Amino acid sequence: MQEWNTFIEGDNLDMLPGLAATYGPVDLVYIDPPYNTGNDFAYRDDFRNGDAKKTRHLAWVAMMRPRLEAAREQMKDSAAIFVSIDDNEVAHLRLLMDDVFGEQNFLAQVVVNLNPKGRQLGRGFATSHEYLLVYARDARLSVLDASSTETVVEGDFPLTGADGRRYRHLPLRNTNKKFNPVTARTLHFTIWGDPESGRVATIPFEGAHEISPVFGDGRPAVWRWSRPLIDRRPDDLVCRLIKGRMGERVDVFQKDWLHEDRRKKLNTIWLAEEVGSTDTAVAELKEIVGHVFESPKPTGLIRRILGTMPADALVLDFFAGSGTTGHAVALQNAADGGSRRCISVNSAEPTREGSNSRNAGLSTVADITRARLRAVAATVGGGLSEH
Ligand SMILES: C[S@@+](CC[C@H](N)C(=O)[O-])C[C@H]1O[C@@H](n2cnc3c(N)ncnc32)[C@H](O)[C@@H]1O
Repeated sequence: MQEWNTFIEGDNLDMLPGLAATYGPVDLVYIDPPYNTGNDFAYRDDFRNGDAKKTRHLAWVAMMRPRLEAAREQMKDSAAIFVSIDDNEVAHLRLLMDDVFGEQNFLAQVVVNLNPKGRQLGRGFATSHEYLLVYARDARLSVLDASSTETVVEGDFPLTGADGRRYRHLPLRNTNKKFNPVTARTLHFTIWGDPESGRVATIPFEGAHEISPVFGDGRPAVWRWSRPLIDRRPDDLVCRLIKGRMGERVDVFQKDWLHEDRRKKLNTIWLAEEVGSTDTAVAELKEIVGHVFESPKPTGLIRRILGTMPADALVLDFFAGSGTTGHAVALQNAADGGSRRCISVNSAEPTREGSNSRNAGLSTVADITRARLRAVAATVGGGLSEH
């Protein structure tokens, strides 16, 4: 499969088992399953089966469990899975994921601010977020990099080098109390530095002060760099006179440079201004096929997820809906020259009588997925293989 996008129509429970055999094991799964809200969307989103709440949750978990188990079998050991969910089922999903993937493979429960204005319908709080549960297939072998190039801010690098590059000072001393001369013996040694010239060395020189790593309260600490690393990169270090809690002292700092591939750790609250909102997602879909789906995800959300995995990842979304994941994969490849491929699966669930999608001649949700992925292939590129 060379195309960036592949669409498979059918119930995911039937389609999942053979996927890895046909397309290879997948690197990344993203799904946005029905939230079990009981709302009347363009697709069935209510596993109530009687009116007791408990039955409703049990029915939803019974629907999800075999699908997650089958998905796990299609994943590489280094793979990760991201699942969108809201308050209705987040507690049940978390326990189910612990069961299927193992608690030790839990990576994060991210809060995603998809409705910044907050839900105005009904009583109570104006809910403005939902969740992403993130698990590794095997946390020890996972290649997920929980950082992004997008979130790096120039303002965090206030200093400018002679060549115009921006940087910031980081203490060379390890500020984590877990590391001390007992736990990291080889990293406790003397350095020589001159606060006038800024020069740093592992051997004494004219005018240099002798510097040992200490915490703010004067207790012995350790450096973050080994002696050989300091000898290799002395120009990336600077000696300065600083005012600490115990008065003035001479200390050593790393010049931490801003560069193109610079990444920043992702935190666990993702704002609509960073990843988009349900409103911007509706607008994106409207632009490419029309207002034919009520609750698409913004491509920005999926692109941030894609950024945590290698640029040649095989991606799978088996609750594809309007095809946002396939769209995001194409946009990301076009932007960074990546070779990601995406398999989208959706059932031929009938769209609602009288809905925009039905009026637009799209009689099933699979028709919606196909329509969008065809439009993506035509406008962004990468082709589409349909099954
Ligand atoms: C919440 S929507 C996904 C929306 C999607 N993330 C987007 O941005 O458009 C869930 C989708 O799962 C589909 N679905 C539900 N049960 C399914 C099943 N058993 N097999 C395949 N697709 C299913 C529904 O038709 C619906 O389109």
